[in-house]
Amino acid sequence: MDNMTADIALPAVQKPIVAARDLKKIYCTDAARIHALNGVDVSIMPGEHCAILGTSGSGKSTLLSLLAGLERPTSGRIYIMRRPIHAMTEKEMVDFRLHNIGFVFQSFNLMSMMTAVENVAMPLMFQGVPKAVREARAERLLRKMGLAKQLASRPSQMSGGQQQRVSIARALISQPEIIFADEPTGNLDSATSRQIMDLMTEAADRRGATLIFVTHDEDHTAYADRVLHIRDGIVDRVETRTRNAGVSTSRDPAHEHQNPEETASCAKH
Ligand SMILES: Nc1ncnc2c1ncn2[C@@H]1O[C@H](COP(=O)(O)OP(=O)(O)OP(=O)(O)O)[C@@H](O)[C@H]1O
Ligand SMILES: [Mg+2]
Repeated sequence: MDNMTADIALPAVQKPIVAARDLKKIYCTDAARIHALNGVDVSIMPGEHCAILGTSGSGKSTLLSLLAGLERPTSGRIYIMRRPIHAMTEKEMVDFRLHNIGFVFQSFNLMSMMTAVENVAMPLMFQGVPKAVREARAERLLRKMGLAKQLASRPSQMSGGQQQRVSIARALISQPEIIFADEPTGNLDSATSRQIMDLMTEAADRRGATLIFVTHDEDHTAYADRVLHIRDGIVDRVETRTRNAGVSTSRDPAHEHQNPEETASCAKH
């Protein structure tokens, strides 16, 4: 090989940060077996912002919970950062989530007896970070998010938008590679919703983090690079976007489906 050839830097082949294959989830109740997911294939690339859009009951939250390791699939495989989370023990999964994943819930899920600082610092407490250090970090982050006056407030003393900012700070505090959000603005008015979506996407971008969010609001898909349309527990259609700009649609995602470890593809199964 001559020197010139040796000096050419070849682009690294990017691997998906989240990949799921043939994901199925059946909920068994006394009355019925509910097929919430019917075989979903997804690949999400590092730094990508991906929206999951669909009607109520279509399986959005189920898909997000499985991808984040909050729930286990009935069958199928899920890889996060190339680790097979479907094969992890409960303890391994909790530990993995603590260090690599942030989750934002529609209903904020803050601890009612804790202040904003204590809520945000909580993941660091589980990581064994000393109180003074974790609370100083939480305070810095809350100030950056415009909550300087709410540091000592409890959730009941804050507006919905303020509570959701606290919960986003809690999701970001351990500097996760991936942020999952399930209808993060579902309980907020439209102006506050936009602020929260701006804040969350900018925070993810600043850190190069991957963002995967569920929404039923078409307008919020403008915050995504890709939109997975989910219907009756399958990915029905995948839309690739230039964020906040033009939209190109693909009605035949199957042609995108290649090796799960090699490519970004979201395909109907
Ligand atoms: N724990 C559970 N036990 C039984 N059935 C469940 C459970 N969780 C979800 N389901 C069912 O699975 C299907 C998909 O639910 P999921 O919560 O994923 O929908 P969704 O798209 O998030 O809806 P929404 O927009 O209303 O939040 C629904 O039929 C729902 O009733
Ligand atoms: Mg839901």
